[in-house]
Order: sequence, then structure tokens, then C-alpha cells
Amino acid sequence: MNYAQMLKPAIATVPVYEPGKPIEVVARELGLEPDCIAKMASNENPFGSSPKALAAASKALCGAWMYPENSAFYLRSRLAEKLGVDFSMLSICAGSNEFLYLLGDLFLAPGVEVVMSRPSFITGKIVTLLYGATPVEVPLRKDLSQDLDGLLAAITDKTRLVYLPDPNNPTGTVCTQAELDRFIAALPDHVVLVYDEAYREYRKEMPDLIPHIRAGKKGICTRTFSKIYGLAGLRVGYSISSPELAELVNRVRPPFNVSVPALAAALAAVDDEEWVEKCQMLNAAGLAQLREGLCEMGLECVNGEANFVLVRFGASAMDIFAKLQQKGWIVRPVRNYGLPEYLRISVGTPEQNAGILDALRELLAPSAL
Ligand SMILES: Cc1ncc(COP(=O)(O)O)c(C=O)c1O
Repeated sequence: MNYAQMLKPAIATVPVYEPGKPIEVVARELGLEPDCIAKMASNENPFGSSPKALAAASKALCGAWMYPENSAFYLRSRLAEKLGVDFSMLSICAGSNEFLYLLGDLFLAPGVEVVMSRPSFITGKIVTLLYGATPVEVPLRKDLSQDLDGLLAAITDKTRLVYLPDPNNPTGTVCTQAELDRFIAALPDHVVLVYDEAYREYRKEMPDLIPHIRAGKKGICTRTFSKIYGLAGLRVGYSISSPELAELVNRVRPPFNVSVPALAAALAAVDDEEWVEKCQMLNAAGLAQLREGLCEMGLECVNGEANFVLVRFGASAMDIFAKLQQKGWIVRPVRNYGLPEYLRISVGTPEQNAGILDALRELLAPSAL
């Protein structure tokens, strides 16, 4: 018997997660110097990590020989204080992705349905299929925003989770507080809303699900230190839910899943308001810079509020992707999200934004076509 014959049947249906291409890989493949390549493909923070977090992580490395404190007491206590929620409502994971897997452990099995937008962040679908459950995908509206009424209409007796990233990835589109309020109010009692807030810090006004959770609605907010705090490589995120759901999440969480330096970095990052404010400002300016430049070239940008922009290039999207890469600009094709005419570009430093706009101007000049 070979491995393929031994697998759980669900595994064959699971799409492979395609990360943005690392700089080293592109350098090797195209014979470019790594220093001449900019990665604008994974919605990372182009300004690096919170300096306070980095200093704390470096210091914590001395304790690397010990297992981490498994309850994440200090990080949860500080978050509880900062966010005004009870300690028992918080769980800590190795990045917000991991919560989706733990919710899969808790609620998903063959015969169960998960409602989500098509497209939305691919981990929602991957996890659903991994557990043999059925993704029920609701198309986006014409403007590529999520169709909340459509999501509600897709709920059946078999639904256990609704996955709602806000802002959505790869589109960047957002829901308003009023839309979220209406949505959660209409959610039946046998369904948990998974509200993925990975890009929350980039929004001017982020809707708040916590009052609904306090009022007894079934929901979980998942958040991350990967984006504005610049700690994607350390893998740490947290969730806010009812104490009952947090306890269940903790029950299936792998022991010691968040490393000693990651816990220390996150604890310091929570209080690095200066860093957050600086990156919010720089991102807003960078997003405007990119959108303006792209619009001047006659390209259509999706209306979003994150640290990336989804741009329509039409039938030549993959060609532009390849040519940008040859010039040292890594962006993200979104074919696998069912958007073959679009590319997703992460906001970079002002110099990177200007550089990629110049590269695109060259590629799109009539003489180059
Ligand atoms: C919507 C969304 N959720 C979650 C994640 C993953 O975050 P983490 O690094 O915390 O696992 C991403 C990463 O790109 C994302 O776009």
C-alpha cells in the first residue's frame, strides 16, 4: 500500500496553500541579487518589526532552553487590561491561522458546512476540506465586497461556522459596524462567527464584535501580531471569545505552541503604540501612493482598507506578474482565488511603492506592449 492509498479521503480535496515567493527563491530562479528584489506579496510590514518587540525577543532567547509558559499568563493579562476584556476570554496561538485549525478540531467533520465568501482567505477553505466538512461559498458582490445577506441565506441546519475575514483577503474590502451588527443579530444559535481581524490595525474604524460576544452571541475574533507589529516570522496571535469557547480552544491547542521569544515579543508589542501609529500613518500614505499611481495608469483598484491593494490587469495579469518578477518585484497572483485578471500588491516603503509604479509604467508603456 502506498501513502496515497492510506490517506484520509478528505486530504485529496485540500488545496495547497501557495505563499508569496520568498526573495531567496526568486533570486535563485532568476539569477538576481537578493538585495535588488522587493517582496510585495505577503502583506508583511515593510518597515520591519516593532523595535520593542525585537529587543524583548532577543532578551528572551536566553530562556530558549525552557519550555514556554503554557498559559501565556503575562501576555493574556496585559491584553486583558489593554482591551478591557476578561482574561478568560483570551487564547494565544502560533499566528491567527492556527485558530482556524483549532476551530476545525472542535466543530468540523463530514456532513458539517462552513459558510464563507468566494474568494476569502484560503485557510478557511483549506481547514474546512481538511476535516472532511463542506465549504459553502457565496460569491462576492460586483464591487468584490462580501455579500453578508448571501452568507446568511447560505446557512443551513448543518452550518457550524461562518468565516468572515474583515478586511477580506485578497480583496481588502471591509464591512461596517452596522453591517456586522445586523449580521450577528441574524446568526442562528447553532453557528459560530469566526471574525478574522488580521488587518484590523490598518482600518480607520474597526467594527467591534465583542459586545455581541458578551451578550451571548456565538463568535470569536482572531487577531495577529504578524501584520502591523511585524512579527510574521515569530508566529503569534490571539483570540477573543466567550470563556467557554476559549476554554475549548485551549483544550485542543497543542502544548507549548507559542515559543518563548514569540510570547516575549508580543507582550512588548502590545505596548508599542508609537510603532503602531507610525506604521498606520506610513501604510495609509503608501496605500494612497500606490492607488494614485495605479489609477493614473488607468488601472482599476479594488476599494479596500488593508496593507495591500488588489489591481485589475486583465488578460495580461500573469504576464505582468512574470515581468515584474524579472525586474525584482514580487507581487501575488490571485488565480488560485478565482481572480485570474488581478494581482495583489502589498504596500511597501515609499521607495518601493515608487519603484514598482515606475516598473509598471515601463511595462505598460505602448512601446512595451
Ligand atoms: C485574512 C488573514 N487572516 C489570517 C492571516 C494569517 O495570519 P497569521 O500570520 O496570524 O497566521 C492572513 C495572512 O495573510 C490573512 O490574510
